[in-house]
Amino acid sequence: MAIQRTFSIIKPDATERNLTGKINAVFEDAGLRIVAQKRIHMTKDQAGKFYEVHKERPFYDELTTFMSRSPVVVQVLEGEDAVAKHREVMGATNPAEAAEGTVRKLFAGSIGENSVHGSDSEENAAIEIAYFFAGYEIVG
Ligand code: CMP
Repeated sequence: MAIQRTFSIIKPDATERNLTGKINAVFEDAGLRIVAQKRIHMTKDQAGKFYEVHKERPFYDELTTFMSRSPVVVQVLEGEDAVAKHREVMGATNPAEAAEGTVRKLFAGSIGENSVHGSDSEENAAIEIAYFFAGYEIVG
C-alpha cells in the first residue's frame, strides 16, 4: 500500500459543538497524520463551487447554506491508503447507517449535517486539496 494524501472537512455542525479535537483524535488513532489544517468560514459561493458536482441535486441549496453557516476546518491527511482509511473512519454518509466507532456514528445527526467530508478518490483529493491549500502550507 502506498502513502497517500486525502482532503477532509470538519463541518459546521461539528465545529459548532467544539468537536474538532475529538474528530482529529479518531483520525490520528487510525494512523492518519494531519499535514495541513486551517479553520475558515466559507461563503455560500465558495461552498457552491466546492460542491459543483452536486449542483443538480435537490439538496444542493441546503448543502451550501449549511456549509457556509459556521466555520469549518479544512485538512490534508496523510498515511497508508489514506483515502480509503479516512472514508472507513468517517463512516457511511448517512449516520443512521454508519458503523460503530466511526465519526458519523459518534457525532453526526443527519445525512445533511454529517460532521465530516472526505475525498472519494486520490484524483479528487488532489483537486480538493488544491482548492484550499497552497503547496507550502502542507508539511508532511
Ligand atoms: P459529503 O461527503 O460532504 O458530500 C456531499 C454531501 O451532500 C454529503 O456529504 C452530505 O452532507 C450531503 N448529502 C448527501 N445526500 C444528501 C441528502 N439526501 N440530503 C441532504 N444532504 C445530502
